[in-house]
Amino acid sequence: MSDSHGIDRREFVKSAVAIGGAAALSACLNRGPEIDVPRGPEEPGSAFPERQHAWNEFLPTTEEGNNHHPRHRVLLPLDYGDGTPTDAEREAVEAALTGVERAYERSAAGLLLTVSYSPYYFDRFDADLPESVDLPEPRALSSFENPNSDDPDAIVHLASDHGEVVMGAEEALKGEIDELNGVSQPDAALTDAFSIRERRTGFIGDGLPAENQDVDGVPDDGPVPEDAPLYMGFESAYEGNQPTEDRVTIQEGPFAGGTTQQLSTLTLNLNQWYEQDTRKQRVAKMFCPHHANNDVVEGTGENLGTDPRMDDCADPMDSARSDGVVGHGQKMVDVREDDAPIILRRDFDSTDQGRAGVHFLSLQREIADFVTTREAMNGEEIDRNSAVGQRTNNGILQYINTVRRGNFLVPPRSLRALPPANPEAAEDAEVAHA
Ligand code: HEM
Repeated sequence: MSDSHGIDRREFVKSAVAIGGAAALSACLNRGPEIDVPRGPEEPGSAFPERQHAWNEFLPTTEEGNNHHPRHRVLLPLDYGDGTPTDAEREAVEAALTGVERAYERSAAGLLLTVSYSPYYFDRFDADLPESVDLPEPRALSSFENPNSDDPDAIVHLASDHGEVVMGAEEALKGEIDELNGVSQPDAALTDAFSIRERRTGFIGDGLPAENQDVDGVPDDGPVPEDAPLYMGFESAYEGNQPTEDRVTIQEGPFAGGTTQQLSTLTLNLNQWYEQDTRKQRVAKMFCPHHANNDVVEGTGENLGTDPRMDDCADPMDSARSDGVVGHGQKMVDVREDDAPIILRRDFDSTDQGRAGVHFLSLQREIADFVTTREAMNGEEIDRNSAVGQRTNNGILQYINTVRRGNFLVPPRSLRALPPANPEAAEDAEVAHA
């Protein structure tokens, strides 16, 4: 639908998410009929699962049988400041979050959200995190990267198929609007407890990378396939290549039902990827030489259904020696448990800072599971023992640069508002004081 300025409404909303703010939101809403999103329940607390990261059951399934990923994203890094949270601050944060959940149903068309906390946040408490939570400070995970630490206290992740929904939720959480989707919002905001450090935005899904390819890191001639869900041109996170939410959920202790979140900010340099590499090389580097040599992947790879058939790839060292190249996915097959990876990928692309990038967001029971997976992706063994280089012909390492890494705990819902480091110890302390 075009407005009087001839700009397609959908097109406008897409860039509006990256711009953000109340003005961009109201400009969206003024450009044609409001989107029709069902409201959430009166009492999200009793209706919603304890696992904040339980998204899968609320996501539609694509024709190919994979989870559909919500198309628009906002990440809000939050700083708490000094001291420890008060009950009033916890109540304000919980009220603000509940307010947006009342406004939009929990779905891809509505809103999915998580709140997570960094090790820097938990440092303020006398008690340590319980042993059942593995949340180290982030560090470099390869010899060729030098990432900054992603060190806000908390991060809110907002996801929806509608740009207006993530923008509206963001404005409501900041306390900027009184009514959202016809639902009046509480007199409480995240900013009652936090300051918002910055905003990060992104997208995933057919067509969006091609529409957003006029950025640094992508050649000028617009090479990203029209229907690709990600800048590098292929489907990712096939159902058969993702663990269950159970596998990534913390099983014991006071944070049982939670998970950990690894968030890396990657920048992409796709000049060689699209200008020098052939399609065959791209398939070999992303999947494996076997897939390239046997035309296993058509187009963006939708033909693979739910299973990119990584078991058909040869042993990575054999590929490196016989084909001089090893695939990205292929290198991590050895890390699988019960025939599935141990990290749940919920990453998406970004144009932040005018540069093609990825907010690589993954969930796992322990940050150690991410480290193991990422070390396999480094392929150091292969680099040492074959003609494959440290980064060249070594999966997709040559095209990505890790500029920032962060580790976060996604607590269960009941502890999502400014949790203490050890809720059991905190309860004991309260009993002792009483
Ligand atoms: C630009 C960034 C990236 C892109 C475009 C990308 C894309 C892909 C693609 C197309 C696959 C093959 C099929 C599938 O997803 O099911 C794959 C597999 C995978 N990727 Fe990535 N990836 C990226 C970065 C990463 C990073 C940073 C990690 C973290 C270590 C990672 C972990 C995995 C894992 C665990 C698999 C599945 C391996 C298996 O089959 O067992 N990816 N990725």
